[in-house]
Amino acid sequence: MQISRVEIDAGSLASLPDPGAREFVLPPNGFAFGGFVVLCQGQVRAFVNLCPHARRPLNFSPDVFLDRNRPEIICTGHGARFNADNGICVSGPCIGQRLTALDVRVRNDTLLVSWDSSAVAGARNRP
Ligand code: FES
Repeated sequence: MQISRVEIDAGSLASLPDPGAREFVLPPNGFAFGGFVVLCQGQVRAFVNLCPHARRPLNFSPDVFLDRNRPEIICTGHGARFNADNGICVSGPCIGQRLTALDVRVRNDTLLVSWDSSAVAGARNRP
């Protein structure tokens, strides 16, 4: 399989509340899931929107991923909680497993998310 580096514009950092999150589409199309950026306690991270428990998106409502009171990402499927900094599940049915992290950097207030095509394919194919 040929590995390629993909980078997308995930929007403005200044328009993202802290704490807050924003979804984006993972190209190429055809994947049944996307990704999201989170800003929490001044740190921005990006993850594939795929819960390691039942292999489904984490959220029901657009851009809603975070606990209001803790720096944790919540899966609406069965209540798993993930550390917003490193994506590791800290409670719930997939404790110890982690979300697939994507690289994110800021250039002139634009959030640029990048990954190797193999990372996304690996997230999709993981048992
Ligand atoms: S699908 Fe996420 S906890 Fe079950």
